[in-house]
Amino acid sequence: METAYLAALGIIGLLGLSTLGATLRQAGPYGRHMTAGQTGTMPARAAWLLFESPQWFAFALTFWLVAPPEAGPSSVMLFLFGLWQAHYFYRGLIYPLRMRDRHKSFPIVAVCFGFVFNLCNGFANAYAVGHAAHLMDTAWLGDPRFIVGLAVAAFGWVVNFQADNILLSLRGDGFTGYRIPHGGAFRWVSSANYFGEIVFWWGWAIMSWTPAGLVFALFSMANLMPRAVAHHRWYRTRFPDYPKNRRAVIPHLL
Ligand SMILES: NC(=O)c1ccc[n+]([C@@H]2O[C@H](COP(=O)([O-])OP(=O)(O)OC[C@H]3O[C@@H](n4cnc5c(N)ncnc54)[C@H](OP(=O)(O)O)[C@@H]3O)[C@@H](O)[C@H]2O)c1
Repeated sequence: METAYLAALGIIGLLGLSTLGATLRQAGPYGRHMTAGQTGTMPARAAWLLFESPQWFAFALTFWLVAPPEAGPSSVMLFLFGLWQAHYFYRGLIYPLRMRDRHKSFPIVAVCFGFVFNLCNGFANAYAVGHAAHLMDTAWLGDPRFIVGLAVAAFGWVVNFQADNILLSLRGDGFTGYRIPHGGAFRWVSSANYFGEIVFWWGWAIMSWTPAGLVFALFSMANLMPRAVAHHRWYRTRFPDYPKNRRAVIPHLL
């Protein structure tokens, strides 16, 4: 199983590099970056439910059937399991169900990519958590890496959740186009949701202190930062009154 874990890490790394290369050239063709008349699509809500699902089922199956040590998972491992499942209960189920525009479509090729990536990632992170010796010891709950990571993850999650809510509210009146988002971390960046997401996964990487957590944090940056830059450019061309001091994704930096 260790071989499968290393293979999953390798696949995540390769997918991260190929995503970075592709999105630097052109943002992934979903949402505002879809081209008119794009074919090979499916309903966006079903797409999100489908491609995010391995994050919870692959993690849960691996955690309970493959990963647990002889003595059973420690309280630290159970905490990390709960945090992961809570996040993906939100991202994989609640978030798609809250999407406003039910007629949006999503490319099937991106669904396949997301499904495979999430399968590898859910497996790798659950395996890593279940096999990390430092997570067997409840003393880890008092370790500075756990405390700092938890604080970083909590901050990132709040920023991401607030940004999701702000974006969803822009279409609360039945409008189906795009408006300039305001409030929360949108004061500083065009993609406050991606900023929060990246911070959250760095928090996870620090608090779990596993190679899989690190690789996922790096993948999130490779995936979301070029897309945030594309969103930022798109806003600037679309809205002449777009706030000039806003950056793309990292406040004051990028
Ligand atoms: N960890 C990861 O690698 C990863 C990868 C992807 C996504 N995510 C997370 O999943 C969530 C959604 O991602 P996404 O790529 O779909 O984000 P997005 O492009 O910012 O879109 C989010 C939602 O808000 C709508 N929206 C965005 N800007 C809008 C505006 N100016 N006016 C009105 N509506 C607007 C979008 O509609 P349209 O679809 O019509 O554009 C979409 O329904 C985010 O929280 C993100 O962090 C995480």
